Parts: sequence; structure tokens; C-alpha cells
Amino acid sequence: QILILDFGSQYTQLIARRVRELDVYCEIHPYNHIPDLSPNVKGIILSGSPCSVRDADSPRIDLDQYRKQVPILGVCYGAQMLAQMLGGDVMPSQHREYGRAKLEIGDTDSSLLAGLSETSQVWMSHADTIVRIPENFRIIASTESVEVAAFKIENELTYGIQFHPEVTHSTEGKQLLHNFVVGICGCRQDWTSESFVETTIQGLRTRLGEDKVVMALSGGVDSTVAATLVHRAIGTNLYCIFVDNGLLRKGEFEQVLHSYQDMGLNIKGVDAKAQFYTALAGLEEPEAKRKAIGKAFIEVFDHEAHLIQDVKWLGQGTIYPDVIESVSVKGPSATIKSHHNVGGLPDFMKLKVVEPLNTLFKDEVRAVGRAMGITNSILNRHPFPGPGLGIRILGDITPEKVAILQEVDAIFINGLKKHELYDEVWQAGAMLLPVQSVGVMGDERTYERVVALRAVTSVDGMTADWAHLPYTFLAEVSNEIINRVKGVNRVVYDISSKPPATIEWE
Ligand code: XMP
Repeated sequence: QILILDFGSQYTQLIARRVRELDVYCEIHPYNHIPDLSPNVKGIILSGSPCSVRDADSPRIDLDQYRKQVPILGVCYGAQMLAQMLGGDVMPSQHREYGRAKLEIGDTDSSLLAGLSETSQVWMSHADTIVRIPENFRIIASTESVEVAAFKIENELTYGIQFHPEVTHSTEGKQLLHNFVVGICGCRQDWTSESFVETTIQGLRTRLGEDKVVMALSGGVDSTVAATLVHRAIGTNLYCIFVDNGLLRKGEFEQVLHSYQDMGLNIKGVDAKAQFYTALAGLEEPEAKRKAIGKAFIEVFDHEAHLIQDVKWLGQGTIYPDVIESVSVKGPSATIKSHHNVGGLPDFMKLKVVEPLNTLFKDEVRAVGRAMGITNSILNRHPFPGPGLGIRILGDITPEKVAILQEVDAIFINGLKKHELYDEVWQAGAMLLPVQSVGVMGDERTYERVVALRAVTSVDGMTADWAHLPYTFLAEVSNEIINRVKGVNRVVYDISSKPPATIEWE
């Protein structure tokens, strides 16, 4: 594997993704929490950073521990740190060095740059530049404005590059990373979904033995794939719980429960609708509703978990971005989240935790799911918030409002599927607004509810644009909603992007 040491760059996760696209396993660790070098580690990549090596308190590592042990590639800040700590000089850049540049390769023998075209396009993004390299360094590539665009340390496999090979604008960046990871570090390209499934199942068998595991499923990709892995490892010793909180989509509870049963999972469907509606009665404020829903879920799950004798583990569908986020570099004084006092937690939270997907990115989770034969209807499902329709009914929640919104949502989502637009958008749904408006139906005046449709395109949910759905489609859906859903006489379409709006309305 490759170890990626994170100094806080926005691109660190991208480096990891590129390495994995080469079918080589890698892990990101913050520079101030580096694990011991195991024999599995074949090379180290030092990431970029928003910090400047010229600052006294900028992040640093003890390079001597790693140099000559394994090959090292410093990227941007990582390269500057190598140059400066080993006796070179780094200064603020004279020119604007942000954007595309042409690489002039000075050393065609360099195995790092092997196979790159003579004027390869690379992506620069830096405010400092290396102005003097130590004596034992050799420049292997330059650009018009950056003399030290790439270097190698003589007699060792340590390299630095000022540009970002992980960004697609570096058109041959993948070749460079291949040269480093496969050519120089000698990693085998055998980390595939199939191999992940096989080794994970074996690992889970050893770790869990005859122990029982309890897991809450949501119908979403992550929990389903995680449960399938654990199920393949320990069979019916995995106890799955799927809670109907009364805030799911129309028919979703029954459908998802059936798919889980078809997959052979040991699943229990729990109808807790009444408990959630009671907990929510009269609550209007979004955060109060979220808290009530979260609390009710914990109570239901804790009760169910207690019914299983001797359960030892809690399975979870946590994925890699959640893990990296919680240990990301926040500056030299970064600390890892400390554990809460477990005294006041429900019993199931005192269980040992097993998270088989906590090293995977979302698209890798889907690939693993595909490798295990999970249906596309689950793998390609839009994200759906835990509090469900509870945060899409603005104001207080009643079973009647849920029923109205479920109908509206079903017409919208089925329409998207029928018109083959479902996979074009990242997420879609409907909001029931606390507004009534005047309309006319036949000769009658109506005074009924307004619903807002929301569909967005996005990569990760952090930013999003409203989906530019065809007018003809919106017209058809709006007609169907107003004609078929009693109590709704007006449909609006949300054309706000995130930021400044959010995807959900509450
Ligand atoms: P926002 O509304 O913050 O949503 O733009 C971003 C993504 O997160 C989902 N979301 C939630 N998911 N519990 C969840 O499990 C929540 O309380 C919650 N709030 C928002 C939202 O559906 C979107 O995918």
C-alpha cells in the first residue's frame, strides 16, 4: 500500500482516489498522527497544504525516519518541505502560479517522468516556490515560470513535484502517479472490488468469530453494502433492523424490506410510526424535529437491540470521507476527536463497532456492491436524509401531511424514472409548504396547499445546482400532482443553488 500524509490540502482525497484507480490500496493519515511503517507500506506521498513552509509553525515531519526506507513523493507543499528541510530555500512566488503550465522535462531518464510527452500539461496552484535546491538534489523538470517544477534526490528514491498530478488538468498526472506507485514503489495492482470483498469477508470472519452483530439498515447504499459484507462473513449472526419511522417515501418500507429478505438478510422490520408521530406532535422548529426524530430512533433501536441475546457488535455503514473528515488537518495543533463519556449512552452504543466500508469512497462502495450482485435499484438510489419527510414537511408534522407529501413525492420520483431523468440528478424530492393559496377547480374556488419540487445536480452534496429539468416534464408532473393529490392546488419548482441555499428546506 501507499501511505499518503495529509498536510491539509484540498486535493489530498483526490490523490488517494487516483492511486486507487490504479488498483493500489492507499490510506490517508494526518501528518501529526502517522502510523508505524509496516512492511506493507511501499511508498509515501506527501500532500500539499494551505500552510507555507516559511512559517515557523507550519506542519513538518521527521523526514529521516522515512527517507531511504521507502520511496517518497512530495507534492507541492510536500516538495517544498523536502527542499527546505534538507537545506534549500523557498520564497514567495514572483509570478502568478495558478493554472495550467507546460512541463519541460529536463531528464528524460527519470523513471518518475517516463512516458510523459515532452511538453506535458500540468496544474499549478501555489504561492511559494523553491528558489534554491540542496546540492544533492537534481532538477528533472521545469516550466516557463517555475524552474524547480520536479526534482529527485540523488542516490535515493525521493522526489518532489511542484504541480498537482492528482488534478485532471494535469493531463498525464495519472501516468506520473503510475510511474511512482507501480514503477518506483513496486506496488502490485491487485486491489479490486473483488479482492476487497474477499479479504474483507475473511477479515470479518476472523474478527467476529461466533459473535452476534446488530445493524440498523436504511435502504441506502452504504448500510446495505456494509450489511451484505457482514452477512456473507457471519450469516444469521448478523441481526438487521429496519425501522419504519413514518417518514419514509410511499411504499418504501415494504419494498426495501422485501429486497432485504430477497437478499437473504436476517432482517426485522419494526413499525414505529406511532412512536415517531407522538414524539413529533406539535413540534415546528427544524432542529427540534431533528432531535426528536434522532431520539425516537435511538429508543427504538436500543429496545430492539436488547431483544437480541448476547449481541457484541454494532455494524455501521461509515465510509472513508466521514473518517478522514474527522481527523483532517486543522493546523499544527490538530487533535483527534476525543471519545465522549460512554456512561450516559444507550446500551447499543457501548457495543464494539464494526465498519467494513470505512476505507472506501462512495463510488468504491457502489463498485463493491455491484461485485456482490446488489441490485441497481439500491446502488443507484438517490440520497435520502435520515429524518426523511420530517424535514420536508415545513412546520409541524401530522400523519395526514405525510400522506399528502408521499403522494406528491411518488409522482415526482416515478416521473423522473419514467422519463429517464432519475440518474441524471443527484437527489430529488418534494417539500410540503406551510402555505395555502387560492385556486380554481371546475367552478369551485379552492384554498389549498403548495408543494415545492426540488431536484439538484451535485458531486458530493456539499455544493449543488438546481437541475435544469425540461419544462415539458415539469408541466406534466405539476398537472399530475394537482389533479391527483387531494389538498394540493399549486406546485412550484425550486431554482436555488447551494450555497447559498441548502438542498433540504429545513
Ligand atoms: P443540505 O440540506 O444540508 O443537505 O444541503 C445535504 C445532504 O445531506 C442530506 N441531509 C441529511 N441527511 N440527516 C441525514 O441523514 C439530516 O439531518 C440531513 N439533513 C440533510 C440531504 O438530503 C442532502 O443529501
